[in-house]
Parts: sequence; structure tokens; C-alpha cells
Amino acid sequence: MGSPSPLKPGRATAEGTRIFAARFEGRAAPEHFRDRRGLMISSIGIGTYLGEPDSSTDESYTKGIALAVEGGINVLDTAINYRLQRSERSVGSALEKLFADGFAREEILTCTKAGFLTPDGDMPADANDYFYREYISKGIFTVEDIAAGCHCMAPRYLEDQIERSRRNLGISCIDVFYLHNPETQLGEVPREEFNRRIVTAFETLEREAAAGRVHAYGMATWNAFRNDSRAPDYLSLEQMVGLARQVGGSGHRFHFVQLPFNLAMPEALMRPNQSVGGKTMSMVQAARELGVTLIASASLLQSHLVGKVSAVIHDTFGLKDDLECALQFVRSTPGIATALVGMKRAEHVKANLRLVGIPPASQEQFRKMFAAR
Ligand SMILES: NC(=O)c1ccc[n+]([C@@H]2O[C@H](COP(=O)([O-])OP(=O)(O)OC[C@H]3O[C@@H](n4cnc5c(N)ncnc54)[C@H](OP(=O)(O)O)[C@@H]3O)[C@@H](O)[C@H]2O)c1
Repeated sequence: MGSPSPLKPGRATAEGTRIFAARFEGRAAPEHFRDRRGLMISSIGIGTYLGEPDSSTDESYTKGIALAVEGGINVLDTAINYRLQRSERSVGSALEKLFADGFAREEILTCTKAGFLTPDGDMPADANDYFYREYISKGIFTVEDIAAGCHCMAPRYLEDQIERSRRNLGISCIDVFYLHNPETQLGEVPREEFNRRIVTAFETLEREAAAGRVHAYGMATWNAFRNDSRAPDYLSLEQMVGLARQVGGSGHRFHFVQLPFNLAMPEALMRPNQSVGGKTMSMVQAARELGVTLIASASLLQSHLVGKVSAVIHDTFGLKDDLECALQFVRSTPGIATALVGMKRAEHVKANLRLVGIPPASQEQFRKMFAAR
């Protein structure tokens, strides 16, 4: 075996992302690119969750991601466990092609996650034996570190996963590294122990950031920030930011939260389940107060919104297609930086890129839509 290829240095920067946005001047509508933490990021991002762990899906994703970037999308979202590490490698192949074609590393925000145990490329005949050999026997985690039979946030495990992700992606610095569905542990781990695990995870991520292997970190969640505050897997954003502050001081790097948000799951905007400084508010407001950037996942409810978008929404947005309306809703919601859409088919990438040229809905359109509900 030859030596591994060198990792692409750099990370998404203010200047790089501005250059990216400038490539689309005249083609991208105003507000398609928005300034978040000094970076110009696209209102639509490409996700890589769904699909079989096989080579034809690898190729589709690689082509789809390249097409998406060439069309004005500079937010890429993946996770080490998506398609057994194959999605990260598809992102890596797409980045390699894009760099060869003249895009700079500094133009593209590359985000990944870890937490769920995952095999490497294929399902091993005996997964327990694989995890024992690969991790437990090397002291990377212990059986006690595992929750729900599948989830781990132990420091050495996170370091290990970051190293694997950097290699899969071919980049030296991950722009945004998320703890993946950390609330999975709350079914099993008492809250005090959970918070202790979050603190050691944040300490690890602050060290990784100081070493330049990740730039910022956060949490990608499903229920945590959407649920009622009495739910067993609920998380308070104020408390999580407080833990990051305790670990990293005022310069902590806990800057991003990802959560599902779509026409059928509007809780981030509509449910006052957070409290900041004693005031009750929605997640969108809490994130604004606490300086956290929100990224929406499952923007199309995995395409289950087809046939379920009302005439009022079509009329308000002036768009005919159900999924176009669904995506327009998410990318236009004040407080949502980027709407992630999973797309491995070129025709879906092309369809969704149509919105790049259409301005996000105005506050007035939003008001009209809610008034008519
Ligand atoms: N907890 C978490 O961290 C979490 C959870 C869920 C999602 N995510 C992230 O968010 C991303 C988006 O969520 P998702 O992929 O679950 O769901 P999604 O974006 O709501 O929907 C993706 C599905 O919609 C299809 N699609 C996309 N554009 C379409 C179009 N114009 N017409 C018809 N169908 C279209 C895709 O098909 P093709 O793929 O065949 O093109 C795919 O099957 C994920 O990929 C992942 O990166 C994170």
C-alpha cells in the first residue's frame, strides 16, 4: 500500500467564501448567500445521509456534490456513520475534483459528525468483534462508554473519529464538527453523567480546535432542541452553551446546532421550549441570543411533503412544486442559516438549484402565510 495522500490544508474563510459568492454574482438572488460568523454561506446545503452503502451511490453523491457546488452551494454536510463512512469518502472525492477544477478549500464549509459507532465501508460479519478489535482492545473506548448499544462521546473516541473523518474527506481541518444526536445517551445515562460526558467532549473539541483539526463545533440533534422541556431527551441550549463557556471561556468554539426543521416539523420556530436569562422563547430566538448558528436538517421531510403542501403556501411563495415550496420555507425562515437537502440524484440537485436564483421569501410573505393558516 502507498502512503496516504496529503490532506488539503486550509479551511472555509471569510475571504474564500466571499470569492465563492462572487462567482455567482448575477446568478444568485440577493440573500442566497448570507453572512454567518463572517462566512458567506449558501441558504441551501447538500446532505449525504440517505442511500445504500454501495459504489453506485458513492458515484451519484460525488457527482451530485460537485454539481451542487458548481451551481452555488457551499455548505456540505455529512457524518462518519452515513453509509458506513462512504458518504464522507464521496464528499472527499467531490472535493478533490472541485479543487482540481479551481475551487479553493477556503470557499467551502465542510461539516461532519461523530457519535454513532460505525463499521468501515461494509457491514462486517460480526460487528461486535469488529468494534472490539478496532476500538476496545486499543483502549479507545470501554464498554461503559457506550450508550444505547451504539453511541459514544468518549474523548479518545472523538479524537479517533476526527482523524478518520479528516482522512475520508481529504482535508486537514473540519470546518464544523458536530456531536451526532448526543441526546441518544439520555435514554440510558442520568442527566448529571450526561452533562459530565458533554463537558469532557467539549474539552476534547476545544483541544482539537486549538490544534487546527476542527474549526468550530456543535451538536447535530433530532429531538433534543425540538421537544418539550419535560421530555427525557430535551436539551437546554442555554445550559449547553454554559458548559462550553465553562470549558472554553468566552472564546469557546460551540458555534453551531443542527436540528430538523420543515413544514411538518416547525418546532424550532413555533415552540417556546427554551429559556435564556429566565425568558421563555423558541429555539430560533434562543440561538440568536446565545450566538449559535442554526442549520436545518430534513428540510423536505425526506420528500414525504410531496402532495402535502397547501395552496396557501404555493400562492404565498409563487412556486408550483411542493418540494420547492418546502425548501423555500426552510431557507427563508429568519434564524435558519442553511437548509440542508439530501440529494444524490443529479436531477434533484438541478431542481433544487433553481432556488439559488430566487430570493428567499420576505417577512411579509411569511406573515401572510401564517395569517392564512
Ligand atoms: N440528526 C442529524 O444529524 C440529521 C438527521 C437527518 C438529516 N441530517 C442531515 O440533513 C440532510 C438532509 O436531510 P435528509 O437527507 O434526511 O432528508 P431531506 O433533505 O428532507 O430529503 C432527502 C430526500 O429528498 C429527495 N429529494 C431531494 N430533492 C428532491 C427534489 N427536488 N425532488 C424530489 N425528491 C428530492 C432525495 O432524493 P435523492 O437523494 O435520491 O436525490 C432524498 O431522498 C441529511 O442528508 C443529513 O446531512 C442530519
